[in-house]
Amino acid sequence: MLTPNASRYPEVYARWQRDPEGFWGEAAEAISWFKKPKTVFDPKAGVYGRWFPDGVMNTCYNAVDRHAEGGRGEQIAFAYDSPVTQSKRNITYKELQREVSAFGAILRDFGVEQGDRVIIYMPMIPEALVAMLACARIGAVHSVVFGGFAPKELATRLNDAKPKLLLTASCGIEVQRVIPYKPLLDAAIEMAESKPEAVILFQRPQAKAEMKKGWDWDWATLREQALAANKTSECVPLKATDPLYILYTSGTTGIPKGVVRDNGGHAVALKWSMENMYGIKEGEVWWTSSDIGWVVGHSYIVYAPLLHGCTSVVYEGKPVGTPDAGAFWRVASEHGAVALFTAPTAFRAIKKEDPEGKFVKQYDMSKFRTLFLAGERADPDTIKWSEKILGVPVIDHWWQTETAWTIVGNPMGLGQLPVKYGSPTVPMPGYDVQIVDDGGKPVEDSKMGNIVVKLPLPPGCFPTLWQNDGKFKESYLAEFPGYYKTADAGYKDADGYVYVLGRTDDIINVAGHRLSTGGMEEVLSSHADVAECAVIGVADQMKGEVPVGFVVLKAGVNKSHDTIEKELIALVREKIGPVAAFKCAMVIARLPKTRSGKIVRGTMKKIADKEPWNMPATIDDPTVLDEIKTALQGKGMAG
Ligand code: COA
Ligand code: AMP
Repeated sequence: MLTPNASRYPEVYARWQRDPEGFWGEAAEAISWFKKPKTVFDPKAGVYGRWFPDGVMNTCYNAVDRHAEGGRGEQIAFAYDSPVTQSKRNITYKELQREVSAFGAILRDFGVEQGDRVIIYMPMIPEALVAMLACARIGAVHSVVFGGFAPKELATRLNDAKPKLLLTASCGIEVQRVIPYKPLLDAAIEMAESKPEAVILFQRPQAKAEMKKGWDWDWATLREQALAANKTSECVPLKATDPLYILYTSGTTGIPKGVVRDNGGHAVALKWSMENMYGIKEGEVWWTSSDIGWVVGHSYIVYAPLLHGCTSVVYEGKPVGTPDAGAFWRVASEHGAVALFTAPTAFRAIKKEDPEGKFVKQYDMSKFRTLFLAGERADPDTIKWSEKILGVPVIDHWWQTETAWTIVGNPMGLGQLPVKYGSPTVPMPGYDVQIVDDGGKPVEDSKMGNIVVKLPLPPGCFPTLWQNDGKFKESYLAEFPGYYKTADAGYKDADGYVYVLGRTDDIINVAGHRLSTGGMEEVLSSHADVAECAVIGVADQMKGEVPVGFVVLKAGVNKSHDTIEKELIALVREKIGPVAAFKCAMVIARLPKTRSGKIVRGTMKKIADKEPWNMPATIDDPTVLDEIKTALQGKGMAG
């Protein structure tokens, strides 16, 4: 048994176990309510119960106005640092309040009411964050779509969310490459059945968009007019259970799932996490290097740091190439960040360019206390390397879009627990994490199984999918009654440390980005020459995993394989987007299947990853697996 040194974790977790409602009721004291909740949890409401059902509050009030008016007015709320445009901009809480209030009024002028949806398809610029907070202010439900997704993905989200308004910018910037957004946006609107009523577009000098009169509205002009007219909007009193946002995430098919976040539970949980999980004091400088298109960006670039009265660094750049592998240390030291939260991929990228960690020595990192990693499995080598070059604790933690905050982590605010490499450590209060077999029976310590969480999920976690309780129940609650299926597999050791080893569904994690191989298979199947296909995630030194596609052609196709492979790569880029990082397709004669016709993707992956594998007992024709190995070798894989 490990001695948990001076950590308060065991006592705090036990306190939550004894009295979950008392625990979360106390945590709720840390945020401002228009009407304090009398009921902490109603097990009868919603699908599995709802948190703070009679509480009334506003997330934007807690994130912005509360600080602007409560002594932090002159403190920087967002420190925007953009090496790709060589610009920086600090926005104080007071300034942020003015911007958000004015933008809320603009949204109102466009007829956006409480409960209406607004899609935000924007790069990492302060305007995007202002827009998110303005929606929260007036009770509109934002849905941010990551800029690396293709028009078809945006169209799917338009159809599901049915937004009144679409907010965008003229371009995103990927290191040196300027990506005009307007053509992507127009294509998506053209494709979508549900079209927004108008578009507000922020013109960036790197690529000006052409505007359609009466349909596209210029952001800067609207802003100037609103500020000149002293237009403001109030923080609308909302039920804690009202939706704050919808964030679409990859599901087991090409159709993404609309994860719904509520207001009250989310604010309570995120505020708690800043202090207790991350060990951050109010007012400190915090930096998450991610994108607002992902949950990490929602929770830890925008909402949590502001709810905690911190300064949040908003970084529009990469770990390498903007301009070099010292970029992270430059930003951390310049802004005085006490912590950085990013994906392990980012550190693998830095390690590749600067294996000795020479760059870090050029910067004053004296304020820097902790590095947090999440979004994908943090391999022990990367953690150890990061510890060595930074000389501070490196903390892996595991969570999902669905939960909005840590399921399993090492609570720095309660006192760090000993690190065991390969484990994100222990369940946070709120989460009763169990490992079960496929029949739902608990498995012994150190045995692999399905990772499930006993219901109810804690505050902050999703109460349902957007307008789809049925799919919510079917996808997450049906397989293990009384439990939430995380769709991750792993085990617990005798000290209660959880190890998260991989997904039980078709999701892969590419450079910290969650993608569905099923979605990619749908795209490959749509190619006129393809009879059948399989996509697997193959281990990659840099990105963790990369997708690799195998296709069998229809009879009589006599195009060159090389041409078809190139077409398939282009098709995935066109339909899903560059973020899929789909760069390897191979034409093969047949797919390896079981006698009942199931493609043995797991075995294919093991071959590609050069892992030991056993011939599946039910394989129809074992020689097909040799053909797969040969095909992989032809592409420089599988040894
Ligand atoms: N808009 C448009 N395109 C985008 C994009 C965006 N917002 N983000 C990424 N892309 C493009 C990239 O330019 C790249 O295009 P390419 O195929 O033409 O080169 C493609 O999508 C794949 O991107 P990515 O997988 O990120 O690879 P990369 O080589 O550009 O960058 C890293 C590698 C390590 C620098 C980058 O993946 C990174 O910073 N990862 C951290 C992940 C992260 O923040 N995750 C969030 C969860 S914590
Ligand atoms: P997302 O919803 O995009 O945040 O992706 C969630 C998925 O990423 C999880 O279900 C895991 O498969 C994986 N993941 C996230 N963090 C970790 C981690 N610390 N260790 C292992 N896997 C992780």
